[in-house]
Amino acid sequence: MNDKFTTQSFAAAKQKGEKITVLTAYDYSMAQILDGCGIDAILVGDSLGMVVQGKESTMEVTMDEMIYHCKCVARGTKHAMLVGDLPFLTYQINREEAVRNAGRFIQEGKMNSVKLEGGKIIADTVRTIVRAQIPVMGHIGLTPQSVNVFGGFKVQGKEEGAAQALIEDALALEEAGAFAMVLEAVPEALARIITEKVTIPTIGIGSGRYCDGQVLVVNDILGMYSDLTPKFVKKYANLKNSIVDAVGGYISDVKTEQFPEKQHTFSISDDVLEKLY
Ligand code: KIV
Repeated sequence: MNDKFTTQSFAAAKQKGEKITVLTAYDYSMAQILDGCGIDAILVGDSLGMVVQGKESTMEVTMDEMIYHCKCVARGTKHAMLVGDLPFLTYQINREEAVRNAGRFIQEGKMNSVKLEGGKIIADTVRTIVRAQIPVMGHIGLTPQSVNVFGGFKVQGKEEGAAQALIEDALALEEAGAFAMVLEAVPEALARIITEKVTIPTIGIGSGRYCDGQVLVVNDILGMYSDLTPKFVKKYANLKNSIVDAVGGYISDVKTEQFPEKQHTFSISDDVLEKLY
């Protein structure tokens, strides 16, 4: 458990047919828990715009906000490979800005790699970042930073042309030097074809059983975020209910003077106390 999961571990896992596990995290405590569970990689996703900041999309998240959350997560992580999500408009304008922003994730955010959205049109940017010695995870399919172009959070690649384009996107990312790629909301059979065609691992989210690994938003699997629940999410806990019960208990205990009890208090010596009256 002390071994760090690396880009080499991603490649080895695909070769051995071992599934890769990825979850998002945005703070120290959660990162420490996930890392202790043995998760392979932690993604500090721009999904934090929705699940942490309560915004309607991921597009308002800034570089500085991402860096802040990356630093928190990095402090809680020893084993897992860390992936930082480049936010909207931080890598699309030109390649120089893309490398500078990717570099901030490594230097300031203490990430091991970055993720960015897009296929063929972003391949040259991926290549440039990789040449700067920064590992890149690609992300194609339903890329949330393009939600205005897609007209909503919709499955991608259902028509022949769109499916063909996604295959080309995947090959372009591999050729550009990405070490892995996220396939989001892609039909299972298409994700399978892509997974077989590329030599780098595919990490699925809503893309079925044949990807080389899976990623989900941690708040979704723990039942802590209910604004939007995609079909592909499996809830492993209902922490919202547990929190509601716990907070209800606290409120009731304080109101009825059952908390705090003696065991929760600090004492002072009688000598000192005498002088205070
Ligand atoms: O921002 C994010 O959390 C993501 C994952 C859902 C893949 O990009």
